[in-house]
Parts: sequence; C-alpha cells; structure tokens
Amino acid sequence: MSTTAILLAAGSGVRMGAGMPKALLPLAGRPMLMWSVDALAASDVVDEVVLVVPRGHLRETQMALGRAGSGARVVSGGASRAESVTRGLGTVPDDVERVVVHDAARPLLTPALVRSVIEALQGFDGAIAAAPVSDTLKRQGDDLAIAETVDRTGLWAAQTPQVFWTEVLRRAVARAQAAGSLALATDCASLVEAAGGTVRLVPAAAQNLKVTTPTDLERAEWLLGRADDALPEC
Ligand code: C5P
Repeated sequence: MSTTAILLAAGSGVRMGAGMPKALLPLAGRPMLMWSVDALAASDVVDEVVLVVPRGHLRETQMALGRAGSGARVVSGGASRAESVTRGLGTVPDDVERVVVHDAARPLLTPALVRSVIEALQGFDGAIAAAPVSDTLKRQGDDLAIAETVDRTGLWAAQTPQVFWTEVLRRAVARAQAAGSLALATDCASLVEAAGGTVRLVPAAAQNLKVTTPTDLERAEWLLGRADDALPEC
C-alpha cells in the first residue's frame, strides 16, 4: 500500500526569534527538518516525502536536503498550518492510499513511531501520536485569575505524526474550506473529527517534543546527542 508523508516546515518561527524559518535552524549539526526526513525514510513504510517550506526558501531547502533528500518534493506553504497541509496534499497523486502528516518542529520523530501510527490506522479514519496530559489544567479568567480547574481525566495532547486515508483527509480539508474554518485547525485530526471521522490515539514517548522556543531547541539537541544509547524506540 502506498504512503506519502507531508512534512510541514513552512512556519515562520516567530516564537523562536531566530530571524529564519525554524525548520531550517541548525540542530545537532544539520537543519532541523533533516531529522524528520531521515526518520520517515528509515521507517520503511513511507514511499515519498513532500516537504512544505516557506515561500522564498525552496532553493535553500533543496540545497539543505542534498543527496539525502533526492526523493523528496519541495513545495511552498500557506499562511496557516492547515493551508500548508492543503498545498502538500494537492501534490499527492490520486493512487496514494495513505498520507502521513508530520511537523518538522518535532525532530525527535522515530521510525518506530511512524510505523505504530500507520499500523493503528486499520479500522479507523485516522491515527495520531499523542500523550496523556500530566499537568493539572486551569482555565484562565479575568486578570489571570483561575476560572476553573479542568478535569484532565481522558485528556491527551495531540502530536504528530498523524496518518489518514488520503481520500478521508482530502474530503475533510474540502469540507473545512467550504465552511471557511480551515485556517483555524491546529492539527489534521480535528478536520477529520469535524467531518465525522474516527481517529485513534497512539501513545507516544514524551521525547517527541515540539520545538517552539530556544529552550526547546537546546533540549532537543541534548536528547539527540544521547539518542544512540538512551532513547526508547517509539
Ligand atoms: O507554528 P507551529 O509550531 O504550531 O507549527 C507546527 C508545524 O506546522 C511546524 O512544523 C511548522 O513549520 C508548520 N507550519 C507550516 N505552515 C504554516 C505554519 C506552520 O507548515 N503556515
């Protein structure tokens, strides 16, 4: 069964404050997005990668990919994450059955996690990496006063990779576009859920962190430095 991965790297990285796209920042000696490109390739279940990068950074990305990314297609992204997904999805051939969407901002992706979400897709419309929420949750009121404590029972934090049957994701995106709500979606599962689809949670290791701030970058660098001996295989 054929599978295409859409690797999202078109964010501007404003919260990182580096003055360049976050996914192209050096991380443990190479551009951040390369860690995900390699993990997707090493999973042995992804046939091709579509890399979605900021407008004006296509050539730079192609050069960063070098020979390692010779099989990857590079396209420019949109103004929101969901619009970048739509652009990537638009290049996926009709005969591709499954599509994996992954944020390049999660460079600690492992091949085992890619395989786990793909295996979990059977019998569902989608499957996503996620982690049970461990913090106590508060809803903010006026002047940062706590309005309420939210029961965290059964709550999970969504991560990527997220995998869907290609046609299911295409229909969910088209539905959100027609409703004018596409740009509001912060992940793809929410689009499929809104269209009535069933999406399964796949427990992921806490190491699959999202790099947002310079501190996250340092943490990712440290974790990658000890990946050979200490990271669990998921
Ligand atoms: O901004 P945030 O960190 O939530 O973005 C999650 C992922 O989506 C990142 O990998 C980022 O590069 C990507 N993204 C994108 N196009 C956008 C905004 C974000 O591909 N317009």
